[in-house]
Amino acid sequence: MEDLKSKSQIRSARKKEHIHHFLHSNFEGDNYFKYIYLEHNSLPEIDFNDIDTKISFLGKKISFPIMINAMTGGFDRAVEINSSLARVAKKLNIPMAVGSQAIAVNDREYESSFRVVREILKDGVVISNINAFAGVDDVQRAIDMIEADGVQIHLNPAQEIVMPEGDRNFKGLLKNIENIVRKIDKPVIIKEIGFGISKDVAKRLLEVGVKYIDIGGSGGTNFIKIESARNEKFDFSELFEWGIPTALSLLECRSLSSDLNIICSGGIRRAEEVVKALCAGADMTGISGPILRELLNGGIEGAEKYLQNIIYKSKVIMLLLGKKNIQELKTVPYKVKGELKELLSDSI
Ligand code: FNR
Repeated sequence: MEDLKSKSQIRSARKKEHIHHFLHSNFEGDNYFKYIYLEHNSLPEIDFNDIDTKISFLGKKISFPIMINAMTGGFDRAVEINSSLARVAKKLNIPMAVGSQAIAVNDREYESSFRVVREILKDGVVISNINAFAGVDDVQRAIDMIEADGVQIHLNPAQEIVMPEGDRNFKGLLKNIENIVRKIDKPVIIKEIGFGISKDVAKRLLEVGVKYIDIGGSGGTNFIKIESARNEKFDFSELFEWGIPTALSLLECRSLSSDLNIICSGGIRRAEEVVKALCAGADMTGISGPILRELLNGGIEGAEKYLQNIIYKSKVIMLLLGKKNIQELKTVPYKVKGELKELLSDSI
């Protein structure tokens, strides 16, 4: 019991430090979306006011295919942060994923910062989050805690291995994921946290029954940088460029199967990147760090304005492509150029 308590306290302190180091560094990387080219349409033949951005996600209608992706929970300020994020998600009718619930699954004292998200979002889309070592019972507890519409299982070997107190043994994770997917009756989303999912990994996930992935590519928030700043023994700056850029991860995973539900996240900051992701085969997009930064610097209004801006400008780009709904974006004949083209595997 004492051991569990101190483990929770370490986890809680770490959550706070992540936000501190996130805010005190520059995490603007290259997501490779600049290598995707969309052609302008001078004869769009649509009325801007008819553009419909609604989609169905995890069984519910949402207003735009963007979600506030997993960040936090489980320390003193997290109640305030998560309730603010939930208010923004509620206002815009978009989904929100909570940060890892491992801390609260082990110690109920930490549940409130997660529960508050469901309380505020009411019947909106709320997604659980836990690590890939978690047993089925813990995954179910995380879902029940917030009556989640789905659960993200995060893959974060790059973070763990750089984290002084992180995990070192990654054996057996695929088998565990297979077990979770078999036994959990809600959608299970396998999610990277900023280093991208390769085609090979996506294939192995598909083979064990995974239907949803969040590619979480590189180009945005970088947990090697965050953990390196917390690591007093090693400086990992030589790995700051590590990872599969988001646009590359997206194209590679999409080329595998048209049935796989793909959430595209990692370094998405602007409307053009959201639209490019949707054209290149994403079913949904996710943003974390930039929203948190807006929230902590400009309050709820700042975060809401940031997302409203993205949504409005995405509609502007849809008009310039002549596409009146999200489904039609999938028919845009985008082109791939430069380094992104060079890195694509031959089969695409
Ligand atoms: C994260 N992220 C994250 N992901 C996850 O699956 N579980 C978690 O608990 C957290 N915690 C977390 C804390 C903070 C402060 C940040 C900024 C991010 C990762 C996040 O969901 C996302 O995958 C990456 O941040 C990449 O997206 P952005 O930030 O570039 O949009």
